[in-house]
Amino acid sequence: MNPIEEEAKTYFANAKPTHDWTHVERVLQNALHIGKVEGADLEVLRVAALLHDIAREEDATNKGEGDTCHAKKGAEMARELMKPHGYENEFIEKVVHCIRTHRFRDDAKPETIEAKILYDADKLDALGAVGVARAYTFCGEHNQRLYSDFNAEHEVQKIADHSKHTPVVEFQMKLSKLKDRMLTVEGKRLAEQRHNFMVSFYKELQEEVEGKV
Ligand SMILES: [Fe+2]
Ligand SMILES: [Fe+2]
Repeated sequence: MNPIEEEAKTYFANAKPTHDWTHVERVLQNALHIGKVEGADLEVLRVAALLHDIAREEDATNKGEGDTCHAKKGAEMARELMKPHGYENEFIEKVVHCIRTHRFRDDAKPETIEAKILYDADKLDALGAVGVARAYTFCGEHNQRLYSDFNAEHEVQKIADHSKHTPVVEFQMKLSKLKDRMLTVEGKRLAEQRHNFMVSFYKELQEEVEGKV
């Protein structure tokens, strides 16, 4: 295992299945695939993907902060982590930019092709069969019901109480919109494919629940 990979992995020792090391491995595969299609710098992408969530676990233990600044904090941590590995400063800053902007909910916008790809690669992991599996793992972690009213109209605001949330609501409110937020052509293509799978999954679920199939 590459030294960077080995070091990155240590930050996930106590991570929950929804955001563990396998998430990083999948984001890496997504990023390398999109990177090849889009002609990006694959080494920048590789290191950025491996390090993109290293601050997540630490922030998650600081109640609430995990949702707001793991990208910012992770970018700083990654810079220090990369220095002893002999990377050039320019390379390090390219990776730092990718990590800093991988959430893109605030002012930190992905500017480079590698940053846009990391953003898409990370979002893709919430979609498709993996997206359904992760949603139901989160469901179990928070004692949620398997489904709720399939035809409910939802307010845009977040449901603060996780136990009142369900994977169906998560898809209706949030995940179904991800395909329209992709930043690369290949990322969008994959997102649409995964989105369609989720639509058919939840349609099948509803029909089974209603005794129609
Ligand atoms: Fe993240
Ligand atoms: Fe991530």
